[in-house]
Amino acid sequence: MSESTYYIETYGCQMNEHDSEKMSAMLEDMGLTRALSPNEAEVVVINTCAIREKAEHKVYSALGKLKASKKKKPDMVIIAAGCVAEQGRGALLRKVGHLDAVLGTHRISQLTSVIERVRKTRQPVDATGFAEDVASLHLPAPCRGPSPACSYVTVMQGCSNFCSYCVVPYTRGPEQSRPAGEILHEVRAITERGVKEITLLGQNVNAYGKDLGDGTAFPALLEDLNGIPALSRVRFTTSHPRDFGPEIAAAMGMLDSVCEHIHLPLQSGSDRILHAMRRGYGRDDYLRKIAILRDTVPRVAITADIIVGFPGETTEDFEQTVSALEEIRFDQIFSFKFSPRPGTSACHLPDQVPDEIKVARLAKVHAVQDRITEQYHRNAEGTEEEILIEGVRERSGQPFGRTRTNKMVNLDSADAVRQGDLVRVEIIRGLKHSLLGKKRG
Ligand code: 5AD
Ligand code: SF4
Repeated sequence: MSESTYYIETYGCQMNEHDSEKMSAMLEDMGLTRALSPNEAEVVVINTCAIREKAEHKVYSALGKLKASKKKKPDMVIIAAGCVAEQGRGALLRKVGHLDAVLGTHRISQLTSVIERVRKTRQPVDATGFAEDVASLHLPAPCRGPSPACSYVTVMQGCSNFCSYCVVPYTRGPEQSRPAGEILHEVRAITERGVKEITLLGQNVNAYGKDLGDGTAFPALLEDLNGIPALSRVRFTTSHPRDFGPEIAAAMGMLDSVCEHIHLPLQSGSDRILHAMRRGYGRDDYLRKIAILRDTVPRVAITADIIVGFPGETTEDFEQTVSALEEIRFDQIFSFKFSPRPGTSACHLPDQVPDEIKVARLAKVHAVQDRITEQYHRNAEGTEEEILIEGVRERSGQPFGRTRTNKMVNLDSADAVRQGDLVRVEIIRGLKHSLLGKKRG
């Protein structure tokens, strides 16, 4: 028999990227090897994202492109995993006739059995629906081949916030934390294989442990991780401003391995809109928390997500978002046009903002933030930073890595650094999107 191959295409967030890593490990355990393109693979997984309409469109287009290959190779197994699969379920199978299975967000660990069922029955398989204890939450972080220096580690799954615009509670279910003992065991194991930096993943990591009901909390988890000597850096994402408090700021300030960066999505600078979004904090609450953070963690980098054009957002509301950007001076932001998501409460709100206004507001947000980010980068010139080498740029051969504050640094030459090295560099140039560094002698 010829060698069987697989291909995984991933859309969306870091949780999805990590789920894809877990699925790759499962497929490799089945004896499959990675194909170079989806069309030549025997098993194709499209790991989908439903957060905005655009992400969902990409999924349909990726599935559409596979139709001809499936016709030529009827034994090909095509699976849609992740958030669109969880929401679409049987309807998605009916809509996309050449799709063999839908694998929901709580069913990642069933990938192998789903493939076997498809091969045996040649019938569409619907493996969706939430589970009380999500088996894939406990799947170990796969670390294969020459160890990369960085790894994701899942600490919780799902979200119980129900922000009015967001599909995630519907696609990933309620918050479920992973037991701390299991996390620590996994982190010790991957550091033995050469991992130096971990990113703790969850939709709302600041609420870690609340659902366990045994007093487990996020700052204590950070403290335990800080006690693992081989682990140099701990990052985490995503934080919710409502659940972020002085205890987490204190842990960030005190614990050597916890990096000086936080992603704290603001979403809007207008109290009226924050209320309509059901975020559970106002502009002043957010500003107070930032002030505590900056007092407690010197040189902390703060990044955020911003949504423009939420239903009912007036010019005045929008200007408050712009003024918040100027006042807070985030290191970097990710900004999006509001996208109505079926099933969420903001989907059918009156006063939807016309697309051309959303486009103009997004452009303004970009312009304001680009200027601020560039100023940060310029101010970094002449400073010394520690970077963890992640790899080498294909075209230029330049090694690259991130500072503890999560800024990308390209080195000016390839002088004697290897993947996984922690090196001291001098920032010699601050550019728009990155920094240029020189290794210190
Ligand atoms: N429309 C636009 N942006 C959204 N986000 C979440 N839901 C939507 C939506 N319906 C953004 C938020 C969130 C980020 C991951 O995606 O800013 O923090
Ligand atoms: Fe997309 Fe949200 Fe699902 Fe991540 S959790 S894949 S961002 S919809």
